[in-house]
Amino acid sequence: MVSCPRRIAVVPRYVRSVLVRSVLVRSVLVLLLLTACSGGGGRGADGAAGVGDPYFPKSGNGGYDVTHYDLTLAYDPKGRPALTGSAVITARAAQDLDSFHLDLKGLSVEEVTVEGTRAGWSRKGQELSVRPARALDKGETFRVTVAYSGTPQPVTDPDGSQEGWLRTADGALALGEPVGSMAWFPGSHHPSDKASYDIAVTVPKDLTAVSNGEPTGERTVGGRRTSTWHTAEPMASYLATLAIGRYTVTRSTTKDGLPVYVAVDPTQTSASRKVLSRLPEVMDWAQYNFGPYPFSSVGAIVDRPGDSGYALETQNRPVFPGPPDTATLVHEIAHQWFGDSVTPRTWRDMWLNESFATYAEWLWEEDEGGATAEETFTDLYEHGEDDYPDLWDFPPGEPPTAADISSDPVYQRGAMVVHRIRRTVGDDAFYDIVQGWTAAHRHGTADTDDFTAYVERQAPDENLDEIDEIWDDWLYGEGRPELPRER
Ligand code: TRP
Ligand code: ZN
Repeated sequence: MVSCPRRIAVVPRYVRSVLVRSVLVRSVLVLLLLTACSGGGGRGADGAAGVGDPYFPKSGNGGYDVTHYDLTLAYDPKGRPALTGSAVITARAAQDLDSFHLDLKGLSVEEVTVEGTRAGWSRKGQELSVRPARALDKGETFRVTVAYSGTPQPVTDPDGSQEGWLRTADGALALGEPVGSMAWFPGSHHPSDKASYDIAVTVPKDLTAVSNGEPTGERTVGGRRTSTWHTAEPMASYLATLAIGRYTVTRSTTKDGLPVYVAVDPTQTSASRKVLSRLPEVMDWAQYNFGPYPFSSVGAIVDRPGDSGYALETQNRPVFPGPPDTATLVHEIAHQWFGDSVTPRTWRDMWLNESFATYAEWLWEEDEGGATAEETFTDLYEHGEDDYPDLWDFPPGEPPTAADISSDPVYQRGAMVVHRIRRTVGDDAFYDIVQGWTAAHRHGTADTDDFTAYVERQAPDENLDEIDEIWDDWLYGEGRPELPRER
């Protein structure tokens, strides 16, 4: 294979002296180099700008995998700039790389280094393209440092909701699903590239900063308070969070010894007390149903209603806009298994998150002596359009556009897929499948084909025809499916 020179000037001088005198020879030479090297030229010397997600093609980046993010951030709501940051990203090259991309939206970049040496960089939209001084070899572990600053902004989702960096009454809240995390740190912002994290954040000392994982230290110097957070288990960047403001913090441990860290906006503490006191019970229930809890701490962040308008299953510590009801607490805790530990490989696989988190609500209600999951299913099947007018608009396995990944067919009809599986194989096989699935892909990523193949391997043989029909009619079929005749 030809090796692509990074600049034509690196063609050895003796070659130049012999050949380059002739204009004809020179143009042939340039043409050859261009053909061999254009856009990676099939050699893949330039990492791709995205990983080809069907809905967010520029999310994530090709040519490397991130293993760790080390973020050092300072935020002052009144500061100019409000945020200064340094991101140290450890990654492994999956191919030879002359250049690669990071995702970063807004903010200004001050310097980029690779392996401690200043690198070239340029920006276009959300793409930060980095050209290290020395090319990277396939298999090499390398460290990129990005120094940046600015006032981070909200990102408007295709469905109109707001994420990214949200200003709150007393600070800020960073929420990343699906593509908001690039508003506050550079990285490979796609769920297929999970990594561990260390986050250090400095804020004015009258404020508190809360993030994912375990708090590993806090110190106040002058007027500023720095806290550090360690996330050991792999995390998708959309699940990273930062909540900055006034919080009442409660630390405890469950009877199994799991650390619990709960941060509540002081205006919400009394209204939150009752529901949050049920967290240990919800955890026990979830482990009994879904298998061992995948992370080394748990908790919650409760902000004011209106700060985000929606809850999000941020890893270890879901965020709630005001005191959640028990069903919402169950939903976000269930996501720790379905979404946070077993993470969708693309945004098309979103139903793997939302169907199980929604079905967890049905199961909880059944176990609490309310409606059975069967009753919830039947009610939805017969009258679902009253509450969910879009219920039958598209199949959960194939949302038509990026604006549809968090709509009713994904949540409600997705949960109906799960219930159809349960009814078909029976409770024993169903819980084996659910717990086997969370164990098989623990801390990893999985797509819908992985799931259907897993169910087909685990389901009793006599159910396979009906399982096939569930995929055809409920997961991928258009419109409201027929119910099978009761056997
Ligand atoms: N995943 C969240 C939940 O169900 C909901 C949500 C918030 C969401 N923001 C989103 C879903 C953006 C898709 C896209 O708890
Ligand atoms: Zn959800």
